[in-house]
Amino acid sequence: MKEFTFSNQLEDLDTESTFLVHRAKEATLHAYAPYSKFLVGVALLLADGTVITGTNQENAAYPSGMCAERVALFTAFSAHPTAIVKKMAVVARKESSEDLTPATCCGACRQVMLEYENRQQQHMAVIMQGQDQRWILASSAASLLPFGFTKDSL
Ligand code: THU
Repeated sequence: MKEFTFSNQLEDLDTESTFLVHRAKEATLHAYAPYSKFLVGVALLLADGTVITGTNQENAAYPSGMCAERVALFTAFSAHPTAIVKKMAVVARKESSEDLTPATCCGACRQVMLEYENRQQQHMAVIMQGQDQRWILASSAASLLPFGFTKDSL
């Protein structure tokens, strides 16, 4: 399976991915980012068709905040421990604009995505927009974190 697929236009992605990106964009309305003013929205598509969203939640004590990806994943798996996350869309926009701005998952989020991918024993595809504006469809969390740390190391 190809690890990464690139699309210049959002509309060039498959319908499911486009839908999920729109849901993630809607979710940015609920981001709490008064410090960075960088609003991140995530939408997870579960195997049963459920969509769960998450947004970044900042804090005056900066490190106490949390990225949108982890908020979404922790929400999903704390309520539905046996859920299968098929696909995850990650988008961002600046508070001053309604347009999306490129954002890719941070390293800590990739580590958490890898943990749940291994737990569910099914690939978790990830859609996000690279700095060159292209949409990236990664086939799995593992593809985004080569040589990642897993329970096999313990
Ligand atoms: N942020 C995310 O929510 N996800 C990422 O993958 C990168 C960064 C958030 C954290 C912080 O609230 C803001 O974006 C600026 O770093």
